[in-house]
Amino acid sequence: MEHSQKIPIAAKRAVMLFLPIIGFKMRLQNKVAIVTGAATGIGQAIAIRFAREGAAVVVDYIGSPDTPNKTEEAIKSSGGKTIAVPADISKPDQVQQLVDSAVKEYGRLDIVVNNAGIEKKYAFVDYPLEEVQKIINVNLIGPFLVSQAAARQMIKQGGGGRIVNISSVHEDLPMPTNSAYCVSKGGLRMLTRTISVELAKHNITVNNIGPGAVYTPIDADVEAQPEMEKALMSEIPLNRWGKPEEIAGLAVYLASDEASYVTGSTYFIDGGMLRQAGSY
Ligand code: BGC
Repeated sequence: MEHSQKIPIAAKRAVMLFLPIIGFKMRLQNKVAIVTGAATGIGQAIAIRFAREGAAVVVDYIGSPDTPNKTEEAIKSSGGKTIAVPADISKPDQVQQLVDSAVKEYGRLDIVVNNAGIEKKYAFVDYPLEEVQKIINVNLIGPFLVSQAAARQMIKQGGGGRIVNISSVHEDLPMPTNSAYCVSKGGLRMLTRTISVELAKHNITVNNIGPGAVYTPIDADVEAQPEMEKALMSEIPLNRWGKPEEIAGLAVYLASDEASYVTGSTYFIDGGMLRQAGSY
């Protein structure tokens, strides 16, 4: 049993309650956030960290109602606020329901993290159209629709907002056999840049996080093949996988009041992968 599991829930709740009173400011206190694809991986780490920083977190997921259990349990057992809402982010009506659920439950919406993403590798010449469409729908149309519905709500309620997109080093860096994914992330790069300009007058900031190789289920194929994993690690100056929690730390900053003058850019967090020099 992990040490943290031995601490009674009541004690954790008391700590959450008293930290602000003794002057420890949680960085997302009183904020309401939606995190898409928050049942596993980077989204899960962000949802848990946001709740620890005081946000009420709407955990978006697809699949059976058991899917988001781990995220919900982790948040609730430390006294955080959360609801799980099933929504396919490529469907406008489900996206609207997701935003409406946040507003109905917590009264407003301050932060959206467009994290849900998928990838599938094929040689370009063999790439099936239906797979391209699926990937573009989840990785690009999804953030478009969620950001649109969220921005409408943020404008209506006033007071600005934060949109944080989980992109990839591959919004810039080509990756053979991953063309649909690279195209989707390249599109996400321009979505951010374009809407950051449009939404600036409403004090809504829009930024991308561009992770490199982070240890999550999306890379199960690489993790299962030692040779492939070794080749990937050799591309990374820090020579290791990133951890979802390391991405969550940057997401907290971009979602917080501290990042009030930060908009329209991508922040890479990749162990130096994009700066890999020629071999020596
Ligand atoms: C992709 C992974 C890849 C990593 C580094 C991520 O965006 O999802 O498949 O290993 O970038 O190349």
